Amino acid sequence: MKTSELPARAAAAGRERLADRLLRSTAARSYDPELDIDWSALPVEGKIFLPEHRSTLYGTALWERLSPDQRRELGKHETASVASFGIWLECILMRLLAKEAYEGDPASRHVQYALAEMAEECRHSTMFARLIEWMGVPYYRPSRRVHALGRLLTVTAHGPAMWGAILIGEEITDRYQREMVADDSMQPIIRMVNRIHILEEARHIGFARAELARSAARLPRAELPVQRALLGRVALIVARNLISPEVYRSVGLDAAEARRAALANPAHRETLRYGGEKIVAFLREAGMIGPPATGLWRRSHLIA
Ligand SMILES: [Fe+2]
Ligand SMILES: [Fe+2]
Repeated sequence: MKTSELPARAAAAGRERLADRLLRSTAARSYDPELDIDWSALPVEGKIFLPEHRSTLYGTALWERLSPDQRRELGKHETASVASFGIWLECILMRLLAKEAYEGDPASRHVQYALAEMAEECRHSTMFARLIEWMGVPYYRPSRRVHALGRLLTVTAHGPAMWGAILIGEEITDRYQREMVADDSMQPIIRMVNRIHILEEARHIGFARAELARSAARLPRAELPVQRALLGRVALIVARNLISPEVYRSVGLDAAEARRAALANPAHRETLRYGGEKIVAFLREAGMIGPPATGLWRRSHLIA
């Protein structure tokens, strides 16, 4: 063996060790939301569906006009919107993981973990769908444009931007879910959904972060601006589409007016910054945030 091959061999061995550890963790601790959540339970009187300070309109003039019941109803629809967007994201992620398995060596622990993660995302999407059904609210479909962009992403995304896109979706929601798990004014079923998702996503985040670092280190310099631009576009799409403007109609508000108020709302911008805090720090460290996409990140409000 040439000495120049040694670092590549060590990196491949490290990748297999991480996948092996994640596979053992998956076997030891994972959930089946069909069995582990009592979907026949009714919503608990007085418990909320979203912490008020995370509502997009919190603190605005429109918010002041809403009754406590309307605020609770809006929170329910906003949670349904995030769950709907989660299904959209996970469907994309499952296709990206399938691509990893299709191209790779199924006898490797790496590909076996990609398959295990797909199985978990599959259960998560079913869990989010059941949550929407349980709340008795609509599935908030992304716009036709976002739907088409998602399809394009499954075909074109590769390298650090692909893993970064996955992480943006996973880590922003993870921050809100951790807050909700700790909040006993929340509906118990929503807390349980979040508990399951946090535990299983911790493995996914570890896997994607390692893959991002690995692919960023091997990225040709000339490709960096393209990868950054793709990632900045994904950041803006995620930040703008977590909450569908259609949710505002549920409390009798004008969708366009409420959307404008939400986007201008300092409290909502702070919620986005809070959601992006950890993933932004990681992507910056990896050199994945910067020109020509800095403006896209600013517009997303994921960075202050
Ligand atoms: Fe998930
Ligand atoms: Fe995930």
